[in-house]
Amino acid sequence: MYEADRRTIEAGTSGDVLMENAGASVVAEIVSRWTTRVATVLCGPGNNGGDGFVIARLLRNAGWSVRLGLLGDVEKLTGDAALNAGRWEGAVERLSPALLVGADLVVDCLFGAGLARPIEGDLASLVQAVNDSGVPVVAVDVPSGVDGNSGAVRGISVKANVTVTFCRPKPGHYLLPGRILCGQVIVRDIGIADQTIRDIRPMLVCNEPGVWRAGINWPGVDGHKYHRGHLLVIGGATMTGAGRLVARAARRAGAGLLTVVAEPASLSVYAADSPGIMTAPIATLDDLLKDCRHNALVIGPGFGVGDETCSRIITLLHYCRCTVLDADALTSFAEQPSTLFFAIQGPTVLTPHEGEFARLFPDIEGDKLSRARAAAKRSGATVLIKGADTVVAAPDGRAAINTIDAPWLATAGSGDVLAGIIGGLMAQGMEMFDAACMGAWLHARAGGDIGPGLIAEDIPHHLPVLLGQLWRGVP
Ligand code: ACO
Repeated sequence: MYEADRRTIEAGTSGDVLMENAGASVVAEIVSRWTTRVATVLCGPGNNGGDGFVIARLLRNAGWSVRLGLLGDVEKLTGDAALNAGRWEGAVERLSPALLVGADLVVDCLFGAGLARPIEGDLASLVQAVNDSGVPVVAVDVPSGVDGNSGAVRGISVKANVTVTFCRPKPGHYLLPGRILCGQVIVRDIGIADQTIRDIRPMLVCNEPGVWRAGINWPGVDGHKYHRGHLLVIGGATMTGAGRLVARAARRAGAGLLTVVAEPASLSVYAADSPGIMTAPIATLDDLLKDCRHNALVIGPGFGVGDETCSRIITLLHYCRCTVLDADALTSFAEQPSTLFFAIQGPTVLTPHEGEFARLFPDIEGDKLSRARAAAKRSGATVLIKGADTVVAAPDGRAAINTIDAPWLATAGSGDVLAGIIGGLMAQGMEMFDAACMGAWLHARAGGDIGPGLIAEDIPHHLPVLLGQLWRGVP
């Protein structure tokens, strides 16, 4: 954002205009939502505070009663913040919880991108008082205390009902815990050109259909099942539920043919689950792999952890063009992750939850987005880190964050379904990053649509609804 501001100013739009636009867009949002008209604006010493002076002035012009509190001395403000402090005709009070008395709305302009250290001491007490007050909060750019790049909280953070940010959302708006602290995120234009952002670095991408819609391989009128791919699901001998969920999800996602490969004793369990699948004993796996019509494969859910799993996977990766590795397939390599990364040559998607990620990439730290990017680069695979803020990253640097809230997905078998959806999409020829993003989106949307009471088996059943909407061009 700093670079975008700088380039925009250099191109002729002054910082003063950008700050006025930022403040005006926050005020437009406030007056469209609240009619109570008694606000307290909390300002910090930087430009986020400068936005606050603009907001206070414009709210007062709109007939609101406004109190303004400032961290530090008004004389120490500089640049556009000082300019707007000079335009404010009301009192500038010292920050204290007393500012909250009688307020119907708090506008949080303490810190934006300039948060440089944890919020501590009296300031932390004030933030706590804001959070305890029950008064609605509008945060400007990010809630104070949230790191806009990582979503991490530094010390303590304001908990906002609405966050108005500018130009583009930042990772911290969607990564936990920032995502929860932001409330509803509103993105407003303040006059920074799209091209300016594109010139600086790839934008943060929210995982929405626009990211991957063009990569969907819808069947043609003359299509037949072989055009839609043949997926192999390597099922466990005893934990058959996981493999069955993978198979159901993959078929609903559109895989034309699906074969579950497992120990002979368990094949009847898989076959009984769904008349539309084929089964094959695991002893025939090598022959199946040599048949290039089997163009994608899912292994891990319910398969079991151990050296045998590792050697099986090394062989699979040698033959198979598209592979989804989940659960036990990931944990099995905890002691020797580089063996796995060395074996990955074709399009591969790894779908770890946080625990599996930590076992596979113990030295990769930081926020979820950076970790996913680093892991994708190291492994040569697309890495999808599961969670409420699921992140997908490709080895070439592309990344997307899930923005759909679906807490109902926190249930047994949900991850197996996700692996199946991605496998089903890859079997149809979808590129691995697109397939991982689309899989995560379908999964989250299904979770949100089904809602309370969801069990994993419901998700595959809902896929035809969502796929039908996508096919018809909605949303
Ligand atoms: N405790 C106490 N003080 C702190 C803490 C902390 N934990 N963390 C940071 N600070 C202080 C810093 O020392 C700094 O103070 P100083 O200027 O006296 O050194 C100040 O807080 C920085 O806070 P911010 O206001 O967040 O940082 P900055 O001045 O860089 O402004 C900005 C951030 C530009 C507003 C950013 O959030 C953003 O891009 N917003 C969206 C766009 C926008 O609002 N543009 C309008 C302004 S246009 C322009 O400024 C050119």
